[in-house]
Amino acid sequence: MLENKKIVLGITGGIAAYKAAELTRALIKAGAEVRVVMTKSAMQFITPLTLQTLSQGQVYTEMFASTDQYDMAHIALADFADAFVVAPATGNVIGKIASGIADDLLTTAIMAQNKPTLICPAMNDKMLANPVVQDNIRKLRQFGYTVMESGVGELACKTSGSGRLPEIPEIVEAVASILTPKDFAGERVLITAGPTEEPLDPVRFITNLSSGKMGYALALAAHQRGAQVTLISGPTKLSPPPVKEIIFVRTALEMYHAVMDHYSKATVIIKAAAVADYRPISLASEKIKKDKGLTGIELTRNPDIIAEIGAKKKKGILVGFAMETQDLLANARQKLLKKNMDMIVANSLREAGAGFQTDTNIITIIDRNGKTVALDKMTKRNAAHRILDHIRTLSKKKGPSKKQ
Ligand code: CTP
Repeated sequence: MLENKKIVLGITGGIAAYKAAELTRALIKAGAEVRVVMTKSAMQFITPLTLQTLSQGQVYTEMFASTDQYDMAHIALADFADAFVVAPATGNVIGKIASGIADDLLTTAIMAQNKPTLICPAMNDKMLANPVVQDNIRKLRQFGYTVMESGVGELACKTSGSGRLPEIPEIVEAVASILTPKDFAGERVLITAGPTEEPLDPVRFITNLSSGKMGYALALAAHQRGAQVTLISGPTKLSPPPVKEIIFVRTALEMYHAVMDHYSKATVIIKAAAVADYRPISLASEKIKKDKGLTGIELTRNPDIIAEIGAKKKKGILVGFAMETQDLLANARQKLLKKNMDMIVANSLREAGAGFQTDTNIITIIDRNGKTVALDKMTKRNAAHRILDHIRTLSKKKGPSKKQ
């Protein structure tokens, strides 16, 4: 996720400083090279040796020390970084950066750089709610810094409220986000994900094996590339991505209505959901008892959501998925034409590492111009970016993708 990215991690003096150790490991695990800068107060909470061991590099603490290249440290750090992250960021440091005070190595290095910068506030809830702190956070956002929302929950000072350091995976995602080019800015992307459930009675339903991972990866990737994302999700076990809007549905009919309510505003529609083609004709209001002798389930067709949009749409890009067990490409091409899609993503359930539940996928992209791109096995996250890359090439040929 952060392969070959160079991150300067600034740690300031709050109790959440101990979590910076875990953040350092997570950034390195994601592929980044990390250099750590600590303020004097941060060193009251966690030692430079811990960070040095975890980051496998020098930890910078002194304003007036030189790096091994004999550069001034604040300039060398600014040159080194692809991005700066301050986690935890105290109210004091937020105030200093917002007011242009540079009285230690971290604040000086931040003043000396213009790289994407992520600020992760963590403090007592009353400190965070203080209008001066809130005003400083507003200023930082106006200056172009990305300031994360603090987590809500139990705080070290035994109170509960807003002010927790955001969770480590969320911070790593936010770092990936500030480093991602915003080539979907201005696009409104509607994505469906997950399975649908078609109930028979209050305890039983018909569903499929979709986990929602591919659709959620697409939603996150589009969001990180600057799109306004609406995610319409069937039931999944996944944590919701930080997109503009999420609508949770259960049945194919609920998904149909949610898509119909939202599709006209979208410039790109991606139907990654595995929609049940049939639903039980009637829904028993009480649990069906076995003594009643159930001999069969009568089914009726659900609407084909993408086909209906394909028939109606005049502009914008419509992307579907085809998951097959045989004749993958022929079936996918047929679906592309029949449902008037601009692009279809085909994956086979017969290949190991592709399809439902897995964290990887093996996809072939087919577009309306007949272009076919077969990709190797990759994470669903990377597959999502390749799908968006291909959508970008289609919308470029077509001009900016307009609303329906
Ligand atoms: N789809 C949909 N509404 C449905 C069924 C499918 O919008 N009721 C969409 C899926 O989200 C996917 C595409 O149609 O983008 C292809 O889905 P798939 O289940 O592979 O195809 P079907 O047309 O249902 O054909 P079959 O099940 O016979 O393979």
